Formats: sequence, structure tokens, C-alpha cells
Amino acid sequence: MKTNTKLLHDYPVIDAYTGASSIPKYQTSTFHQQKLYDDSQQFSYTRFGNPTVHALEEALASFENARYALAYSSGMAAISNVLMLVKAGEHIILPTEVYGGTCQFVNEVLPNFHIETTFVDFADLHAVEAAIQPNTAMLYLETPSNPLLKISDIEAIVALAKKHEILTAADNTFMTALYQSPLGYGVDIVVESVTKFINGHSDVVAGLAATNDEVLYEKLKLYQKNFGAILGVEDAWLVLRGMKTMGLRMERSIENAEKIAQFLVQHPQVKQVYYPTLAHHKGQAIHMKQAQNGGAVLSFELHTKEDLIRFTERIQLPILAVSLGGVESILSHPATMSHACLPAHERLNQGICDELLRLSCGIEDIEDLLEDLAQALQ
Ligand SMILES: Cc1ncc(COP(=O)(O)O)c(C=O)c1O
Repeated sequence: MKTNTKLLHDYPVIDAYTGASSIPKYQTSTFHQQKLYDDSQQFSYTRFGNPTVHALEEALASFENARYALAYSSGMAAISNVLMLVKAGEHIILPTEVYGGTCQFVNEVLPNFHIETTFVDFADLHAVEAAIQPNTAMLYLETPSNPLLKISDIEAIVALAKKHEILTAADNTFMTALYQSPLGYGVDIVVESVTKFINGHSDVVAGLAATNDEVLYEKLKLYQKNFGAILGVEDAWLVLRGMKTMGLRMERSIENAEKIAQFLVQHPQVKQVYYPTLAHHKGQAIHMKQAQNGGAVLSFELHTKEDLIRFTERIQLPILAVSLGGVESILSHPATMSHACLPAHERLNQGICDELLRLSCGIEDIEDLLEDLAQALQ
């Protein structure tokens, strides 16, 4: 089955009880139990599982080509649950430019559980290998990275992990399973912020974890229940609705991103453009080996902070906001938004300067987006 058909038909899309063509919102916290001492009833309490959330989890497993998927109350809920699979005394290696929330969790929370971490440049395989210690239990990757779209080689990192018998986890929020499949390369667990492209309408915060490994799934299921991290019913229903059109939305957003990247590259007011399929982008060849296109997010740097402030005041169409992956274009300022939780020197170290903007391209008509960018840059 191909992508758009799969998003509509490859999971239980009809309610088994009523035949409703949209899985209903089973808006209940608890379920009447027919008999005591009977394990055959599938649902007992919504924090453990709920029919609407379960339908979404089946949809997400199909979408990820995974045996198992879990739906979480946010991308960070999924990420923190996955990172907590590591035990006290063990060690995780992460990319220096990992998503800001993940970085904060790793720095502020994991030390309380005696979990050690090291940040390295994942584009440099030797640096990753050199950081491996006898107690390293997980390599956590994110490619392209946020916001500079830095690329790491999924296949090579998985090979490294397998050589040292280390677990791998990958944040695939930017490309999604539609265009890049870490599980297909042998990554053990994939996480995504469903808040972004999968839901696609900037009206839900949600996350997923997917795996082909039954033991990992059982552990994650237990954590989802014990941390109370399961996605709410209403949100699960909204994601089920939103993801049906994901293929079409993303196709259009990516087409727009490619055209905008080309436009910005030749504009004199733009100092630098970061987009994985541009010829000058470091890691372009690796990205094209493991992904089908450059995705819908790009970043660009203006010459001065004053230019940037004027630009953000003049731009009309994209909303100026945290987040990405909506049908509307979203312009973000990483230094004060997604990466504000990093110390200034660390941000600069990573290349996230005050003059940098990130644009998540929506599905607007490209003529309007280009005209708006041109007038704001002027
Ligand atoms: C790459 C990446 N991973 C994870 C997250 C966290 O997702 P959420 O905000 O749904 O918790 C984000 C949010 O921006 C992100 O960009």
C-alpha cells in the first residue's frame, strides 16, 4: 500500500461497535467490568489504555512501519520515557545540537537518577565512537537537527551501536516516517513530536514512540502507564483526523520549502541558508542517501539583529511562533524560543546566533509566500 492510501486505510478506521466512519471519542476515564477475575476485557482505565488512543496507536504503528507504537501527551513525554529506559550508572550519548527540551531534560533531570550523558557532534563518527564508555547504554540521534539541519549518518551510527551492543533511539520529528525511516536502518526506537507534521494543524501537543522490539515495547507501555504519559482522548481523535491528510500537506509544504530555499540563497539580505538538499549544505549527500527530500523546515541567517527585528515586524503571512509542522507557515527565532533554555555561550557554540530564523513552510500558495518574504527582506 502506498503512503496516502495507508494513511486512510491501513489501520482500524471504522468503529467496530457502531460502524462510525470516524473512530469516536471514547471520552471516559473508566470502563464497566463484566466480571471479576477475567482478563479478557481490553480496556479498564484510560490511563492504561483507551479505544480512541488505541486506534491512534495502531495508525501510528502502520505509519511508522513498526510492530508497536505508543501515543504520548507530548513529544517530550515520549522522549523522556525513552531516555528513562537507561538505568542508574549507565551512560547516554547525544548530539550537541539535540532539541532544546531534550537537552534540558538530560541536563536537569537525568543526573538526579545517576544517568551520565555526553554530548558530541554526531556528524563526526570518530567523535561518537570515542565517547563510548563501558557503561554506554544508548546512542540518541536526531537528523536533521533543530534548527541548523545538521545531518548524521543513521546507518553508520546503527552499525557503531551494534558493534558495541548499545541501544539506539532517534528523534525523527523533522522528516517523519513518510520520508525517512530510522527503524528501517535498524534503530531500536523512534520518537516523534506528533504536535508537528503528523497532526499538522497546530492544535494538539502529542508524541509517539515506535519500535519493533517486544521487550522494549512492554517496558515503554509500563512507563507510559506509570508516568501517566498517555495522550488524552480528544487529542488522539484530533490526531487521527489530522494525519489522514498528512501526505498531501507535506508534499505541498516541501515543494514550498524547496522554492523558498532557492529564493533565499540568492537574496543579498540573507547571509546563510540551511536546508539539507542545497548543494552547499554539509551532509547533503548523506541526507539524500537516507531521506527522500529536504523536508519542510529551513533556517536562514540575516546580517544583523536589527535586520532580523525589522524582518519579523514586516513579515505578514507566517505566524511568529514556537513550533513547526502546521498547515500555516511558522517563523521561529531559535535563540529566544526553542533554544532559549540553553546558556548563550552554548547556543553560539552550536551556531544558533541571534540573527538566525527558522521557517516551517506551510501549504500557502508559493507566490504569496515569496512575495511576502521579498517585501519583508526589502
Ligand atoms: C525535534 C523536536 N523533538 C521534540 C520536540 C518536543 O515535542 P513536544 O513539543 O511535542 O513535546 C520538538 C518540539 O519542538 C522538536 O522540535
